[in-house]
Amino acid sequence: MTIINNASLKPFNTFGIDANAQSYCDIRSMETLKNILREQHSKPLFFLGGGSNMLLTKDIEALVLHINLKGIEVVSETDDSVIIKAMAGENWHNFVLWCLKHNYGGIENLSLIPGNMGTAPIQNIGAYGVELKDVFVSCEAINVNHQNLKIFSKSDCNFGYRESIFKQDLKGNYIITSVNLKLTKNNHKLRVDYGAIKNELHALQIVNATIQDISNAVIAIRQSKLPDPKEIGNSGSFFKNPIVSTEVFKTLQTNFSDAPSYAISADEVKIPAGWLIEKAGFKGKRFKDYGVHDKQALVLVNYGNASGKDILELAQLIQKTVKRLFNIKIETEVNIL
Ligand code: EPU
Repeated sequence: MTIINNASLKPFNTFGIDANAQSYCDIRSMETLKNILREQHSKPLFFLGGGSNMLLTKDIEALVLHINLKGIEVVSETDDSVIIKAMAGENWHNFVLWCLKHNYGGIENLSLIPGNMGTAPIQNIGAYGVELKDVFVSCEAINVNHQNLKIFSKSDCNFGYRESIFKQDLKGNYIITSVNLKLTKNNHKLRVDYGAIKNELHALQIVNATIQDISNAVIAIRQSKLPDPKEIGNSGSFFKNPIVSTEVFKTLQTNFSDAPSYAISADEVKIPAGWLIEKAGFKGKRFKDYGVHDKQALVLVNYGNASGKDILELAQLIQKTVKRLFNIKIETEVNIL
């Protein structure tokens, strides 16, 4: 194993922030991972996956372990379904494409989400009416201090909206090494209820959609709204959509009758943070080398050489303004470091 001192993390975070790791190791095998944890677990460690959900506001004063374990295999199958094990370092979207090639259904709505397999359960990735938990069976993770492997079932993971036990109680204690998902081989359960997908399929004049059609529709929608990190640095939605009581929402509606919402329960609704940020006047605003995306206000962008601190300051200004105008707190989805 090679440990590089003072390594740049710029190529490894989708925001494209130029920050350094005190030291860095590219992990390609379970053997290397176990050995390095055995030797180094008492030192400060930082675990890096696809780097698609983080904002680096300073250098990382730790040994960065870049989890690049690769491999996809069918664990078991019946006539109707298949269980697939994918290693943590597999790129999420490449995995979706692999599943489509084999006609395995269930994650087509999650096409083009940046990031890797190993970090998908941490924030229970979701889009267009589907979340990872809908197809998740289990994941294997290594205990950082004792190096023993543990299997986490779906219920062990405590999945919620962009939440899991790995972000909460177990934060920093385990590294996810592989994930098992259950997908359909036929009679795919298509999720086309999300308005944007319906419209896109309609525009393409598709009546009996296949999982490939849905993936194509999602890719088209995402490409029209979300910036490609290879061109403009970003971490997808910077904030979570706030969940508020129906009373708070009614108060909002008295001033803004057009406020959108999705029902969560009898007494709670989710409000698109993108709408609040747009109403607050930030959509498309550019400050020097950073700003708010012009097609989706939930996404903060780095046009080139912004620092993590610049983007954090903008995020805080947005949070303060939204609180002042609407009395609603919006929380970051992205991990601020
Ligand atoms: N909206 C605005 N202005 C904006 C953006 C959104 O008014 O600039 C309002 C509109 O009413 C729109 C509604 O918000 O109809 C919903 O917008 P969109 O469909 O783009 O979804 P979102 O709620 O803003 C969430 C996820 C996205 C995911 C989409 C589609 C969160 C934090 N974000 O965004 O996830 O792709 O739904 O399912 O839940 C991500 O996590 O990185 C991500 C991109």
